[in-house]
Amino acid sequence: ARDVRLAVVAGDGIGTEVVEQGLLALEAALTGTDVRVSTTDFDLGARRWHTTGETLTDTDLDAIRAHDAILLGAIGDPTVPSGVLERGLLLKLRFALDHYVNLRPSRLYPGVASPLGNPGDIDFVVVREGTEGPYVGNGGAIRVGTPAEVANEVSVNTAFGVERVVRDAFARAAARPRKKLTLVHKHNVLVHAGHLWRRTVEAVNAEFPDVTVDYLHVDAATIFMVTNPSRFDVIVTDNLFGDIITDLAAAITGGIGLAASANINPERTTPSMFEPVHGSAPDIAGQGKADPTATVLSVAMLLDHLGLPDASATVEAAVAADIAERASLGGRVRSTAEVGKDLADRIAG
Ligand code: IPM
Ligand code: MN
Repeated sequence: ARDVRLAVVAGDGIGTEVVEQGLLALEAALTGTDVRVSTTDFDLGARRWHTTGETLTDTDLDAIRAHDAILLGAIGDPTVPSGVLERGLLLKLRFALDHYVNLRPSRLYPGVASPLGNPGDIDFVVVREGTEGPYVGNGGAIRVGTPAEVANEVSVNTAFGVERVVRDAFARAAARPRKKLTLVHKHNVLVHAGHLWRRTVEAVNAEFPDVTVDYLHVDAATIFMVTNPSRFDVIVTDNLFGDIITDLAAAITGGIGLAASANINPERTTPSMFEPVHGSAPDIAGQGKADPTATVLSVAMLLDHLGLPDASATVEAAVAADIAERASLGGRVRSTAEVGKDLADRIAG
């Protein structure tokens, strides 16, 4: 038997509700395998900050590092100043654990209502850089609060950081049937970073000659994502552009209730982290209204990462089947726990 140590950071708002269902799905998927998961709950987020003033201590980080993977619900709460938990906890995890590949797949499952009139087949994945860009926090402000205020946010792009994520995106594109990679940036304006990204893609393309490469400015990419999303296969982009276009990608494929993500350290020197793209949704927290599907699909990504592709496919198939039947519910809305139970039952077979 193989033991997998899973760090669970349920976090804030609906985070705890969706993670509970994600864990049930995980348990169901592992039944009959020789893999056993032991979980450690980490008390991180708004409650912890209010009681101790701490977001993520070195002790927490060391303890998390001792795990094989992390399942995260959602971070952020209106009672905590904006940025404190986002920077001090969520981004700190991504940066400290060197999660440079932020993987965000977008698939339009049959039966899902897309807001697009004619969505076509949507099946692409965004490889969002996870440790650089404007998220580094290398900015500053002077004369704050005065009419002469200057506020700078600096985007950090290193050759090392760009190359490793670009190489990962190429490898993913090469493994897919269409073998297509789109670089999304804005090199007509952000000339320093933009040209580094462009040169890097050109150079790494030599190692993956059967991958077709194209380029879109980020503004144009948002047009195509709405008018012709099936043109996309793998997209590689920086941290901030990736944040923005993956919300749009979620919206065209049925909303953030379905959007999964993985923060991966491909070298596996640290635990990778699996989390729904959505936030803590304080407006519906505690009401059993959140859709746990995005978390369950993140569990599928976790299983894949653990080298259990069959279990991962079972979870995905259960989600696809569940989604396909939603229309026949006649408008009845299931609770978080009901969706979770239906999915776990399907996974268990
Ligand atoms: C996401 C979120 C985070 C991000 C926030 C909460 C810091 O929007 O995971 O997409 O910007 O990366
Ligand atoms: Mn986001």
